[in-house]
Amino acid sequence: AGATATIWAPPADDEDARAGSRLDVTVVVPTFNEGTNVVSLVTRLCAALRGRSAEIVVVDDSTDDTPEQVSRAAAWAELPVRMIHREPAERVGGLSGAVSAGILASDSDFVVVMDGDLQHPPELVPALRDAVGHGDLSVASRYAGDGRPSGLASTYRRWVSRSSTLIVQACFPRRVGRVCTDPMTGFFCFRRSAIEMSRLRPRGFKILLEILARHDLRVRELPFTFAERLAGESKASWRNGVAFVHQMVNLRMGRMSRFAAVGALGTLVNLGAMALLVNGPLEVGYVLAAIVAAEVSMLHNFVLQERFVFSDLRDGTYRWPRRLAHHLAFNSVEALIRLPLLVLLVETVHVWAVLAQGITLAVAFLARFLFASRVVY
Ligand code: GDD
Ligand code: MN
Repeated sequence: AGATATIWAPPADDEDARAGSRLDVTVVVPTFNEGTNVVSLVTRLCAALRGRSAEIVVVDDSTDDTPEQVSRAAAWAELPVRMIHREPAERVGGLSGAVSAGILASDSDFVVVMDGDLQHPPELVPALRDAVGHGDLSVASRYAGDGRPSGLASTYRRWVSRSSTLIVQACFPRRVGRVCTDPMTGFFCFRRSAIEMSRLRPRGFKILLEILARHDLRVRELPFTFAERLAGESKASWRNGVAFVHQMVNLRMGRMSRFAAVGALGTLVNLGAMALLVNGPLEVGYVLAAIVAAEVSMLHNFVLQERFVFSDLRDGTYRWPRRLAHHLAFNSVEALIRLPLLVLLVETVHVWAVLAQGITLAVAFLARFLFASRVVY
């Protein structure tokens, strides 16, 4: 059939055309150095989907020979294979950015997302596609029925997978907990018209979690066994953990409450540093202690606020040193203004220095939010 590897052409972003597409399903496969797996993957997908109108979209960020292997497989594959190859500078959002790009490029209203390392059995794709039925989404689950997470290589990874799943289900009882046993899986199928792509944060780490948490969907599950990786290696790392926390915070909390959470943590850091300086072996005077504690918590707040509160507002115009300078300048002024209040409380009202510091911090909190949201970002 039409077997060429098209190197990325932008899709006609036309929902109606897509809904009327003759294609039964688009299979989106993110790949990062899967040169040893893609040929076998394409072969097995073609066999599994024989008799159906389907296409394969590989979104590749590799530095190995994966693109060549994809082209080779595409030359004789029975299904059309397209490839979006992203150069290092274009790799927005890593894995989930790749998946989003593939979804946007799909030419069908039904999209299957699966890994390219054969840990997701291609033979399950037709059943997964059909399981959507008149609903919106089907999930290949390692934790439903006789599904198994066998391919999670270590006890540690099994534990991480299980506990993050439970956390997600608890945080989204209605949209996830009640309908999905495996929101962290990378193997699922959905009806594109049921989902608003613009609602998903392309950097959101687990794309299925984004889809579930931001929509009310009718979900069906299919148990499956997550196979062992036979070739190549897993790209999972501690960074995934950070990305996961980031995604949960963004899904669950508005900007103001994220800011408040950072501020609350910063307050603890401030008071902790203050107590340590005043009562510790150094016996620093309370005024100097207040100044040092303030600087420490300012840095703390900046780092967390960059990452968790305003990350989506940062534009390319200013670099972080400039934002840090603004942040420190304002907050230092604010800390200096607080100082007389602190001295007043300690000297005349005879409040314990750490408590007095706590009071001044409470007064200043609102002022800081106003400044950060109006001026810094
Ligand atoms: N394009 C692109 N860019 N693909 C990537 C990237 C990236 O930055 N990182 C990983 N991939 C591809 C891999 O090539 C593979 O096809 C797939 O994404 C999954 O990556 P693995 O590195 O094999 O992940 P895993 O097997 O450790 O994790 C699996 O289990 C997780 C849950 O426990 C995956 O199925 C995850 O999706 C799943 O969440
Ligand atoms: Mn894998």
